[in-house]
Amino acid sequence: MQVSVEKRASVNSETDLFAVLTTSINSENWRLPPRWAEIDDWVDGNLRRVVDLGDFSGKAGQTVRLYSKDGTFPKRIILVGIGNSKEVGPKELRNACSRVIEEATKLESRRVAILPPLERRLSSSACLQAMSEGFILGGYRYDQYQTAKDKPKLVAHAAILIETANLRTARRASGAGIAIAESQNLARDLSNQPPCDLNPVTLAEAAKEMAKATGLRCKIEDLQGLKKLKMGAMLAVAQGSSNPPRLITLEHNPPKPGQKSRRPTVCLIGKGVTFDSGGLSLKPSGSMVTMKHDMSGGATVIGAMRACALLRLPIHVVGIVGAVENMPSGTAYRPDDVVTSASGKTIEIGNTDAEGRLVLADALHYARTTFEPDALIDLATLTGACVIALGKWCAGVLANNEALASRIQVAGETTSERFWQLPLWEDHRKFIKSHIADVKQVGGREAGTITAAAFLSHFVGDTPWAHLDIAGVANTDQASSGQPRGATGFGVRALIELLQNWKKL
Ligand code: BES
Ligand code: MN
Ligand code: ZN
Repeated sequence: MQVSVEKRASVNSETDLFAVLTTSINSENWRLPPRWAEIDDWVDGNLRRVVDLGDFSGKAGQTVRLYSKDGTFPKRIILVGIGNSKEVGPKELRNACSRVIEEATKLESRRVAILPPLERRLSSSACLQAMSEGFILGGYRYDQYQTAKDKPKLVAHAAILIETANLRTARRASGAGIAIAESQNLARDLSNQPPCDLNPVTLAEAAKEMAKATGLRCKIEDLQGLKKLKMGAMLAVAQGSSNPPRLITLEHNPPKPGQKSRRPTVCLIGKGVTFDSGGLSLKPSGSMVTMKHDMSGGATVIGAMRACALLRLPIHVVGIVGAVENMPSGTAYRPDDVVTSASGKTIEIGNTDAEGRLVLADALHYARTTFEPDALIDLATLTGACVIALGKWCAGVLANNEALASRIQVAGETTSERFWQLPLWEDHRKFIKSHIADVKQVGGREAGTITAAAFLSHFVGDTPWAHLDIAGVANTDQASSGQPRGATGFGVRALIELLQNWKKL
């Protein structure tokens, strides 16, 4: 889909659907705003009528379709309510624009124009960015595996018509929104792809292809490379699968070889378990469905790296994805095994279904020692306990640095991706002491999300670090505006929001 910003209030004959976004209307003392006079004329006075009759009041989510009188364009007009003017912001505009695209797709309207509300505040950069995101996210489908010929025709063009804002600034904001949302859609695509086709090798290939297209540096470690790096924890997970593991490193603004970057360095680390059967601690069949999404942390990292490149963020960002498949077999790792991580610390295995933390242990150590970053941020569908604790409404954040945790929460508040902090104390770390090795892989049933983070904390040293548990939000079985069933690409927007305004911790 093409998105454009144009400085005009009206439409041309090529527009198939004209959407008018409207804040709440108080019909008692309502008079037709001058800018709507022309629209009201197209629809033969019906715009005024639907408001006067109380059929449309601009409530959030409300839509009314109107048809223009003979010989006038566009043929279809849709009024979209976005709610109380005081409460409307980027989130409401993003959702409304997704809604418009979804309606347009149903109507097979190929060319759409949107008239945002008049309030000056609602054509700010943040709002134009969010509207553009809404279009791209609302146009997302994952139908590569459907053979039907009658797939819906997607919207080809969406134009935002602005009256007051500076056109250049507006176009820049819209362009950023497009880049970010398309990157989120890339993350969704990777996460939605069935595990028979998306394995560690093909995931690495996809990352490499994206890096080539955007100018990121890309390095892939194969089995040999991982052995050289002594990544015994990640290798233990990989050894049960016939699909070999990969360690993917993507770099934006890399320093000259052998030098340390003069820019701030932030490492994003993603769990890339392309399928999680549980290994020998096999999951029950029901819990195994959706485990193709267990690489969503990695997908979000790859998506965010794409956006970093396209937006030319002025900092050094490194994306690292540990890609493995967790399978049971005669060569699989076992409960009771002791493995040696890249850091040298030994780990007592208690449950082969707690594989994500092993992958992250080595990836975090690698990130910290190779890039000496200012901050480490990992994303992972790490624990079922997080789904129980926080549900699908937010991701968990656990950190050894309060400023970093709170900045991530603020960024997520801005992009409508919520994070909720859980505590991480010395008491939790004590809970995973081992009698036979340096550290135990799993604690008991209590506070599963926190003990998982406590385990990870052993591998980050004193580098500022935040762990984002996205198990509850990485995929959804309930569609909503801008979000079909399946992968969400959660976190791409928040990470970019955070990195765009990066300041020393
Ligand atoms: N990938 C799962 C976590 C998960 C569960 C994500 C449900 C999304 C939905 C992870 O690898 C896992 O299996 N964790 C175990 C850990 C336990 C064995 C300590 C869990 O949460 O049950
Ligand atoms: Mn698991
Ligand atoms: Zn897992």
